[in-house]
Amino acid sequence: TGPDTVSPTGQPTGADQARMAQSGAYLTNAQGTRLYDTDHSLKAGPRGPVLLQDHHLREKVMHFDHERIPERVVHARGSAAHGVFTSYGTAASVTKAAFLAEDVETPVFVRFSTVLGSRGSADTVRDTRGFATKFYTSEGVFDLVGNNIPVFFIQDAIKFPDVIHAGKPHPDREIPQAQSAHDTFWDFVTLHTEATHHTLWNMSDRGIPRSLRTMEGFGVHTFRLVNAAGETTLVKFHWKPKLGVHSLVWEEAQIINGVDPDFHRRDLADAIEAGAHPEWEFGIQTFPDTPDQTFEGIDLLDPTNIVPEELAPVQPIGKLVLDRNPSNFFAETEQVAFHVGHLVPGIDVTDDPLLAGRLFSYLDTQITRLGGPNFPQIPINRPHAPVNDMLRDSFHQTAVHRGVAPYRPNSLDGGCPFLAGADTGAYIETPVTVPESKKVREAPESFADHFSQPRRFWLSMSPVEREHIIGAYTFELGKCYEQAIKERGLQVLANIDPELCAQVAAGLGLPAPSATVPLADVEPSPALSQVGHTWPTD
Ligand code: HEM
Repeated sequence: TGPDTVSPTGQPTGADQARMAQSGAYLTNAQGTRLYDTDHSLKAGPRGPVLLQDHHLREKVMHFDHERIPERVVHARGSAAHGVFTSYGTAASVTKAAFLAEDVETPVFVRFSTVLGSRGSADTVRDTRGFATKFYTSEGVFDLVGNNIPVFFIQDAIKFPDVIHAGKPHPDREIPQAQSAHDTFWDFVTLHTEATHHTLWNMSDRGIPRSLRTMEGFGVHTFRLVNAAGETTLVKFHWKPKLGVHSLVWEEAQIINGVDPDFHRRDLADAIEAGAHPEWEFGIQTFPDTPDQTFEGIDLLDPTNIVPEELAPVQPIGKLVLDRNPSNFFAETEQVAFHVGHLVPGIDVTDDPLLAGRLFSYLDTQITRLGGPNFPQIPINRPHAPVNDMLRDSFHQTAVHRGVAPYRPNSLDGGCPFLAGADTGAYIETPVTVPESKKVREAPESFADHFSQPRRFWLSMSPVEREHIIGAYTFELGKCYEQAIKERGLQVLANIDPELCAQVAAGLGLPAPSATVPLADVEPSPALSQVGHTWPTD
């Protein structure tokens, strides 16, 4: 059903191949008519007025005028690469997903990003990094749209516009570009204390990665896997970099932002070109799919929670190698459209309320960003599996659909009846029981603890990592104009740890408040520290 000029693997064919590669023997206009000159407008004499009839001039300038599309509303700055995912088969007992069977190789496209800066912003700012992977599986596309931080700022997608409004540059002066050092961001995260955990990760070394090749990745939400017998398991997805986890120190990040704002982008592309192909191991933490969807007292539907690896080890299930740079940034890195709802049989979502909002948001934004609903036909987004849908027409439709009856069943085009109920390899939503309840606008009680997990993170840090966190909070809060925000920031820190609060307060020259909640009695999780972090299969 795709455009005739593109092969099933997304490659242009025939005359279009020459045009897209700009390798034809002569230049043509968009209609294929040969041109003899593209440097001079058509004029009434060499010094006379330009003639309105010059179609080549108008076509060339019109197209240029419309070259830009809107940047992503978040994660605008990104860099991407192609690669291969090879499955170990170790997840086959918990999922029927074909690409996770033993030794299956699946082409992938991975886009890394910062969250808040615009498309032209610098790479080594303090921010969360996106880690989005498109698996072109034999059963359709599976997208894992994750971050390099395993928790999120908010627990309910209805607050996403709010947290992003707070994090983007101030509406009056449009500064600052990065997440760092501005009042609205700190106003939000100190008023919405569910953001404490994510913010603490941002203020740690994780907020300024050394390289995109040395970042972990996390699916963040809990997902539900389904095996061939219909049994379900709750999981969290992890990417672990073969090179280990490494960060910059703040001073390095500052200098690099000035000297080479493309530092991460350049590093990724250069490494791939030089044959130093970055690798990650893909892993899952598994939890029994119990009716309460908790594990060791941790609510698995709360995206501000991790499950410490000491309680649920990450089990390796496959390997990702990035081995090819995009050949056209716009066609691939800009036009790729990820979506958490792009799932394959054997992988399902849970009722995490943040995930529910994402299922709506990505599709919606891409209609604007990519000019209508036909963006799945853009080569980078095309599945490597046959497509036989009943989606028709609209803007940028490039498929020439055949037949007369885009509905099922029909008696005219003669085919493809649904095999209802049978196991046809179709995607079937897991028939989980929805708890009987009344409609409410409220969070569950189990989402109310905002400080235990941040405290565990703080206690897990080495002395040098703690020093960096103290320095980061002191710098960031110190740059806020409003005294009340600094004070509220200190109150949040007091609820994490008195020493952390005291050190930052001393740096700000303000008194350290006492905690307003009892300090949680939690054990450190050594796996959270970057120091001594090793590749699991070394
Ligand atoms: C884009 C991750 C929460 C809306 C992205 C991207 C990533 C990401 C990696 C960039 C994709 C790319 O490279 O093209 C996450 C994670 C979240 C989260 C890990 C929480 C666990 C949300 C929520 C919403 C949202 C709650 C909205 C309700 C968007 C939008 C884009 C985006 C609109 C731009 C997509 C596009 O233009 O193609 N997100 N996000 N995200 N995200 Fe999220």
